[in-house]
Amino acid sequence: MCGIFAYTGSSGKDASKILLDGLVSLEYRGYDSAGIFTPESGSVKTPGAVAELKKKVPKKFNGKSGIAHLRWATHGEPTEVNAHPHSDGSGELWIVHNGIIENFKELKDKLTKKGHTFRSSTDTEVLAHLVEEYLKTEKNFEKAALAALNDVRGTYGIALQYKGEPDKIIAARMGSPIVLGLGDGEHFIASDPSPILPHTKKVVFLEDGDVAIITPDGHTIQKLDSSSVKRETTEIDWSAEEVQKGGYQHFMLKEIMEGPEVIENTLRGRLIAQTGMAKLGGLEAVAEELSQIERIIIVACGSAHIAGLIGEYMIEEFAGIPVEVEHASEFRYRSPVLNQRTALIAISQSGETLDTLEAVREGKRRGALTLGIVNAVGSTIARETDAGVYNHAGPEVSVASTKALISELVALTLLTIFLGRQRGMSEKTAQEIALALKELPNKVQHILGSSKEIEKLATKYASMRDFIFIGRKYNYPVAFEGALKLKEISYIHAEGYGAGEMKHGPIAMIDENFPTFAIVPKDSVYEKNVSNIHEIKARKGPVIALATEGDNEIAKLADDVIYVPQTLEMLSPILNVVPLQLFAYYFAREKGLNPDRPRNLAKSVTVE
Ligand code: G6P
Repeated sequence: MCGIFAYTGSSGKDASKILLDGLVSLEYRGYDSAGIFTPESGSVKTPGAVAELKKKVPKKFNGKSGIAHLRWATHGEPTEVNAHPHSDGSGELWIVHNGIIENFKELKDKLTKKGHTFRSSTDTEVLAHLVEEYLKTEKNFEKAALAALNDVRGTYGIALQYKGEPDKIIAARMGSPIVLGLGDGEHFIASDPSPILPHTKKVVFLEDGDVAIITPDGHTIQKLDSSSVKRETTEIDWSAEEVQKGGYQHFMLKEIMEGPEVIENTLRGRLIAQTGMAKLGGLEAVAEELSQIERIIIVACGSAHIAGLIGEYMIEEFAGIPVEVEHASEFRYRSPVLNQRTALIAISQSGETLDTLEAVREGKRRGALTLGIVNAVGSTIARETDAGVYNHAGPEVSVASTKALISELVALTLLTIFLGRQRGMSEKTAQEIALALKELPNKVQHILGSSKEIEKLATKYASMRDFIFIGRKYNYPVAFEGALKLKEISYIHAEGYGAGEMKHGPIAMIDENFPTFAIVPKDSVYEKNVSNIHEIKARKGPVIALATEGDNEIAKLADDVIYVPQTLEMLSPILNVVPLQLFAYYFAREKGLNPDRPRNLAKSVTVE
């Protein structure tokens, strides 16, 4: 879950500046500690993020090539000594690493017996020493790196540099993403394309087991058994500006505000309103197989899992296919029963979440058709699934997912129409959904227009230490999302609960200091929800209601109300998550916390 960036060039550009600037766009991947190495100037490391590193790097620090790293600690505290890059005993070999080397203790013991001493408690340093050990016998940097990688078990994305051949950097990938940037007289290695984009739009995504060598003039790729392979070059059309904040104080707010545009982008060219059809190019090749499936399993983590829970309600109601939704980290370790009539759908913004990826691989092994609902184009999950739907939400930088969740819900609605129409959903029903989808961008815009009131509300409740979010049916998972957002960025206790389950436990906690956020749209379960609010008010619990415009009755019951426009019941989560995201954002800001940098969390979780 760390960020890696490496550069080698021949035109005399200052590698340290390129590396430090590039690290900034990788900060969402980790920010416990940071470090840089160039063969000319050596290494600088620090706890903290890039700003700390920049302060520490001396003016005269330069080089024509180098490697840099942002860490999200797994093995060892986020201290200077544990920060990357790590070196071998001689200080000739330097490495940055994302992932976990599982057999590092075993390797460390062997190396210690051979006389190696270690400075840090990281698994990464062991790899540097292992390459050093092989260099003694192989007398060749590339061969030594390959031999060492063949001894390693676990996950890695690495960049490795050797002072003896300063122009050359070796990258390798096993489970943690690595992308190469192909420039003119300069080449790059990174965990994702964002730090590469200001320099070149041409990239190559490595596959697991690939080892690449970059020099200023080119790149080669081989497998761990040293057979050479060719990988396609991709042109990335996300501009570097797109990953910047665009005038907002935080990425999170910028990304919430992008909601209307995101819905348009996910829908673009995919809805044929006249005939009530969803045109999903990425599913065409498997359309026939999809018409035969008898069961769907959705696997995902975090907010993507919550999108899946809402998808379950949609697909079961409108396409009549049984759906189960599982946390990827659970699914992959049990013995699920799947067959060729099962479709496994992985939902992932980054397309790199390791548990989700492994769940896809498990699904494949068990014979399921695998599909991805993924935002990051060319990511591992997108490549490894049999077919899929891209969200087209654009880059999401803020750690807490906002706009990606909205795009996942829109993609799931399109999928529901696609599957439903294969199974007898009427043209009229599909047209109704299509029409309602098209109205969503304006409705989200309208909600965003009331952000000032939501900000006031967040200020009013900011001293509260506990929150419960309740909802039913389509908005039951929305309650989880409201609580998750608050937990992630405000570090307070928040729970999502089914409104009907309140009386089976949680209601015991309610008093005047325990507010409830009740998601209570005018839908088929409205009356039931209102009864639950009465029960909470009877116990003196403050209630914020998230209700449908025009529902004046609710204002008499709840302490505060946020109104959202009416839409179809199945689409109401897409509107309801927006005020909850805004509430969490303003709540965190009011507490003086940086919502883009929640402690202990990372954007892309590529560890298990
Ligand atoms: C992390 C992020 C969450 C995200 C989850 C799944 O925990 O902090 O915001 O929902 O990973 O990520 P994915 O990229 O697979 O959607």
